[in-house]
Amino acid sequence: QAAAIDHLLGSTRVMPVVVIDDADKAVPLAEALLEGGISAIEITLRTDAALDAVRRIKGSLPDMVVGTGTVLSPTHLKQSLDAGAVFAVSPGLTPRLAEAAITLIDDIPLLPGTAGASDVMAAMEFGFERLKFFPAEAAGGLPMIKSLASPLQATKFCPTGGISEKTAPDYLAQDNVFCVGGSWLTPKAAIADGDWAEITRIAKAAAAI
Ligand code: 3PG
Repeated sequence: QAAAIDHLLGSTRVMPVVVIDDADKAVPLAEALLEGGISAIEITLRTDAALDAVRRIKGSLPDMVVGTGTVLSPTHLKQSLDAGAVFAVSPGLTPRLAEAAITLIDDIPLLPGTAGASDVMAAMEFGFERLKFFPAEAAGGLPMIKSLASPLQATKFCPTGGISEKTAPDYLAQDNVFCVGGSWLTPKAAIADGDWAEITRIAKAAAAI
């Protein structure tokens, strides 16, 4: 799992976590992010438009590494794969999801969510060493990430949840952080208004971190 995630997201430092209501907006949104230097995107499966959005981005923008988020079940994972997503992110990890993810690891590696040491150990037992740290700010933030580094050396994290352009650099400065995720890159209002210049502006600032 670590090799697969490193291969896909190794150069990604900031991951936009997107909630999209209108699949027609998916490609211009992803183009705006690419224009700003962000080349991976997580489309959360929280809306009816999400899987269609993944399909469209995958079909139109080969340079964008597109994954799904809010993957809660083996069904979500299979739907993600069928839509063309190349990675999947979950807010937590259950044995059922872990077992399904292991069988699909070569097709769609899962980045599972963890919030503390026991979660991380459980994920490691299933072979996961690249983990989302969620909800990052609420689950202890930077001090927590720092505290996990020494006892859990094999793991690297993508903290997500409550992170902003301002707080991202401190996370990214940690050796056990490979990227951060957040919805701040794709504000709901900017998507609704089709304000792609604004998305590109935010993406540029994030890519410069
Ligand atoms: C989410 O669950 O929506 C993601 O973790 C992003 O969280 P954020 O909106 O706090 O950036």
